[in-house]
Amino acid sequence: MHTVTMLTEPRAALAAATPAIASHAASIPRSGIRDVFDRVEAYPDAISLCVGEPSATAAPHIVEAACDSIRRGQTKYTNVLGIEEFREAAARYSLDVKGLHYDPADEIQATAGATFALFLALKAVCDPGDEVIIPSPFFTSYDAETLLCGAKPVTVALRPEHHMQLNADDIEAAITPRTRAVIINSPGNPTGAVTPREELERIAQMCMRHNIWAISDEVYHPFVFTDGLDIAPSIAAIDGMKERTIVVESLSKTFAMTGWRIGYLLAPARIIEHTGKIAELMQSSVNATAQYAGVAAMAGTQGHIAAMRNDYRVKRQIVLDELANSDALSLIEPQGAFYAFVDIRATGLDSQSFAEQLLHDERVAVVPGDAFGREGAGFARLSYAGDASELREGVRRMRSFAERLCDCSHGGHERVCHDLGITA
Ligand SMILES: Cc1ncc(COP(=O)(O)O)c(C=O)c1O
Repeated sequence: MHTVTMLTEPRAALAAATPAIASHAASIPRSGIRDVFDRVEAYPDAISLCVGEPSATAAPHIVEAACDSIRRGQTKYTNVLGIEEFREAAARYSLDVKGLHYDPADEIQATAGATFALFLALKAVCDPGDEVIIPSPFFTSYDAETLLCGAKPVTVALRPEHHMQLNADDIEAAITPRTRAVIINSPGNPTGAVTPREELERIAQMCMRHNIWAISDEVYHPFVFTDGLDIAPSIAAIDGMKERTIVVESLSKTFAMTGWRIGYLLAPARIIEHTGKIAELMQSSVNATAQYAGVAAMAGTQGHIAAMRNDYRVKRQIVLDELANSDALSLIEPQGAFYAFVDIRATGLDSQSFAEQLLHDERVAVVPGDAFGREGAGFARLSYAGDASELREGVRRMRSFAERLCDCSHGGHERVCHDLGITA
């Protein structure tokens, strides 16, 4: 009886008749990506170019290690920083792959994915009212998690003329006495931009000059397509930066383990001391099975990473080929991750309308660029992590949809090219 009343009463009336929700909770924005997923569900026949995860699942030796650990009864609470083997595997992996030295005893912490690692990092360094610089467009959790910590997100526009890479001068211009940290994400979501080491060095100098933290989200580190680069450079590797960098890592993308919820922090011991305390209060410890699987992932054969990179390289080329010489859509060539951030301004539609109409008319789902911050307005993000033939068909439909809309004879394309500093 009571349940029926709950379901039929209008929400507003119910809210007025029940205890209040905290204003800080209500002020956290809902992720724009969730709206997209809700919309896509209404079109089961649509080609989805939205997903931010590998189409592969975890390799058999990873699954086997998880099952073995359960059979052995390794299913109890673990150390809040993670089992020793996990931290040792993360230390070895970080050294071998990125050249980073971290002590498994007190400089590494297992987390429930990068999402929670990011929250812990922000919570450890931000006081209420502090500012966190977020290059924008950005991964959707950055501003909401900053707000959740009582701090203030300050966005800095990534610029097409810099290929959407981070720029030290732009970041420095946003620094105030309240700035506590800057979030670095390279390869970047949603742009696919990879910030070169020289620019990271300039950002590092700036962090040292102003005494601020770099929170470096490196979850896409092996997926780079720049010639001569196997791994995206890490700001933590730059002299003087280890002491002021918190690396946020995850096995989600690299090892196709999104649903396992396993990642880690690499940070100075004085940070881990506090993130450990906070994590203990929030989750006691990380899922034990996922940690044992993580050991197998990081310590085991890495052949699949090169295979995934090659697969993404091929799919990225599909996107480049299908969008080549389009009058309606232009692309800043992505150098990493598995996203393409497409400029749709010449179509005359805003990002939301473009995504909605594309889904309705062509049954292709993309994420509107402004879901990644207002600096993403006029763009749409597509993921090329999925099936290659669906990708080709989806991008073709997107292109013909955009070209039908685009009135190039009225100068739309020329105007956009001018804004982008590209020769039409
Ligand atoms: C840049 C970036 N950071 C972090 C995450 C979250 O990763 P995890 O699954 O480890 O929480 C994502 C997921 O899409 C991402 O794109």
